[in-house]
Amino acid sequence: MTTPQSENRSRFDQIAANWDDSPMRAGIATAVADAIAAAVPLSLQWKALEYGCGTGLVGVRLLPRVGSLLATDLSPGMLAVLREKAAAAGLERITTQVLDLTSTPVPADRYDFVFTSMALHHIPDVGALIHAFGALLAPGGWVALADLDAEDGSFHGPDVPGVAHHGFDRGQVQRWLSEAGFTSVTFRTAHTVEKSRDGEMRRYPIFLATAQHP
Ligand SMILES: C[S@@+](CC[C@H](N)C(=O)[O-])C[C@H]1O[C@@H](n2cnc3c(N)ncnc32)[C@H](O)[C@@H]1O
Repeated sequence: MTTPQSENRSRFDQIAANWDDSPMRAGIATAVADAIAAAVPLSLQWKALEYGCGTGLVGVRLLPRVGSLLATDLSPGMLAVLREKAAAAGLERITTQVLDLTSTPVPADRYDFVFTSMALHHIPDVGALIHAFGALLAPGGWVALADLDAEDGSFHGPDVPGVAHHGFDRGQVQRWLSEAGFTSVTFRTAHTVEKSRDGEMRRYPIFLATAQHP
């Protein structure tokens, strides 16, 4: 049976080897990592977890600012690329784990910081996932969520499988965070992607939401 998870796992496994070739993805990752560093009081004492990390474009950029990073993703293929890069660069303090919180229970370990970039639009029930992020956090822990603002579906186009949301309304993200018990919610625009669509340049802003768990 095809599920959103199996569709995404197989698609991202297939494209993992070439994921890092895209300047657009590198641009998003750099901007999101910079926005997180500006909004969250990162600490070398912190245990961090990235969800939907892909090949680690964001996580590797934040690694020098946290104590350790567990990089998690649904796709073993994306994580294999990350492990190769980490080994080649001699990166320590980063480990990888296949994790799909939409179909498996929240692991027992607790983290000071949970972040995700450009993965939420693949998750059908984002409210439930944000609850799971809260359960992963130690008291006072921080969350950072980056993804597309609401768009008309043209960012991916009609032929890309596994896309559950055409971006997000910031008010909805704020409500999900509040319902999961998060406080001190902030939003900023981390980046704006420009893509040519039907002969015109279209702009796709990417939000960063940050919040704290009590
Ligand atoms: C658009 S990519 C973004 C990857 C990375 N964060 C980046 O910025 O380059 C989305 C990632 O989310 C992962 N993903 C999709 N559904 C997921 C799920 N249910 N649980 C965990 N990861 C998931 C995919 O495997 C993929 O690596």
